[in-house]
Amino acid sequence: MSKKNSAFICQACAYRSAKWAGRCPSCGEWNSIVEEVVNSKSKPVRKSEHIPAKSIQHLEQPELIRIKTPDNELNRVLGGGIVPGSVVLIGGEPGIGKSTLMLQLAIHMQGKFLYVSGEESESQIKMRADRIGIKNDSCFVVSATSLHVILHYIDENDPDVIVIDSVQTLQSEDIESAPGTVSQIRECTNELIRIAKSRHIPLFLIGHITKEGFIAGPKVLEHMVDTVLQFEGDRHHNYRLLRSSKNRFGSTAEIGIYEMLQDGLREVANPSEILISQKNEELSGICIGATIEGARPLMVETQALVSSAVYGTPQRNVNGYDLRRLNMLLAVLEKRCGFRLAQQDVFINITGGLKLEDPAMDLSIVTAILSSYEDIYVPYEYAFAGEVGLSGEVRAVSKLEQRIGEAEKLGFEKIFVSTGNKPLLSKKGGIEVVNVKKVEELFSYLFG
Ligand code: TYD
Ligand code: MG
Repeated sequence: MSKKNSAFICQACAYRSAKWAGRCPSCGEWNSIVEEVVNSKSKPVRKSEHIPAKSIQHLEQPELIRIKTPDNELNRVLGGGIVPGSVVLIGGEPGIGKSTLMLQLAIHMQGKFLYVSGEESESQIKMRADRIGIKNDSCFVVSATSLHVILHYIDENDPDVIVIDSVQTLQSEDIESAPGTVSQIRECTNELIRIAKSRHIPLFLIGHITKEGFIAGPKVLEHMVDTVLQFEGDRHHNYRLLRSSKNRFGSTAEIGIYEMLQDGLREVANPSEILISQKNEELSGICIGATIEGARPLMVETQALVSSAVYGTPQRNVNGYDLRRLNMLLAVLEKRCGFRLAQQDVFINITGGLKLEDPAMDLSIVTAILSSYEDIYVPYEYAFAGEVGLSGEVRAVSKLEQRIGEAEKLGFEKIFVSTGNKPLLSKKGGIEVVNVKKVEELFSYLFG
């Protein structure tokens, strides 16, 4: 194979130079010059390469085969299973469990699995595999970072599934830059994708996430792959969410939920049950919100603590919720509904380490705050789903049927929703649907 030529190209203006520079001499952009492989000779199209473009009416639609993995949550997020030849990028913070997720899949799956790790030694992987427990003779592990060594292993083992842990450790000899740089990641990933596509082998790439929450490396990486999954969660909590932000073979609305245990990740089939803690004590400041994560309805416990501020400026703190949204809700309660919260410290916690952005959680946040403020307990059999507007009105939310359905399934007696949700329901199966128009109305209903 002839050595490929590389050149340094500005990503902003496409200026080409022979050497790297911190600032592009052409457009003046900083840090935009990146090493790229260039094939200068453009070849003429050969006769055999010339295929006329087809009308869309005459294109054949191949039947999408999906390989069902033993991991139902992963199947769900991928849109029903792995598509042969598809490339899936899994991003997540360090220590969240990406390697565990993939190794677990490798161990549980039938067929030949090649797990390439550039991060851990073979003995470290073995230790992890022993924690997960099951033995599997067709799971092969190599510790390698060099692209041509990895390609050799792929040739030699002819696997059914490949995992690369992680793209940041890959290194191609055609490029001088260090592993983890944009040019290395792009070049190596390109080559691996080519292999996966030509041999119809599913390929999983693990990628780190930067402090800002992006997958480290070029944004093009996300364009190159078929599916981008994010593995997220709070490291101090055991729950992990697998979300897809791009999927060429399915919807991005699904999420997968796992629990990190001593012996690996466990699929959580019924998440609502674990997100609601003990039900036996009558505590104020706690209520249950009916939220939607991805396409799944979830019942989550919202906790609030309201207490008089000791120091001049009251504290507002959130865990799993948006602080600005809390400040807005507090302003609404103060200004529109007349609660004196300006001199109170307010703390909000969403249990289970979830981070919620669903506006339908407003109603349960407000209820939890008022319950703590008044020190009156809200029955555990009540659920809440509604957005609170700037004048204290309770607004309609999306997918209400699903929220009510989940609450009913879990045995809630009442669910409080907006009057704006049409059609107005009063009773649905075993659950009573209470329509409220304003926060004050809800307040007098609950704490009257
Ligand atoms: P890891 O998969 O190494 O994370 P990543 O590849 O995303 O960096 O998992 C990291 C954490 O998971 C580690 O701190 C230990 C914990 N863990 C368990 O709690 N149980 C287990 O069975 C395993 C394998 C790991
Ligand atoms: Mg890892």
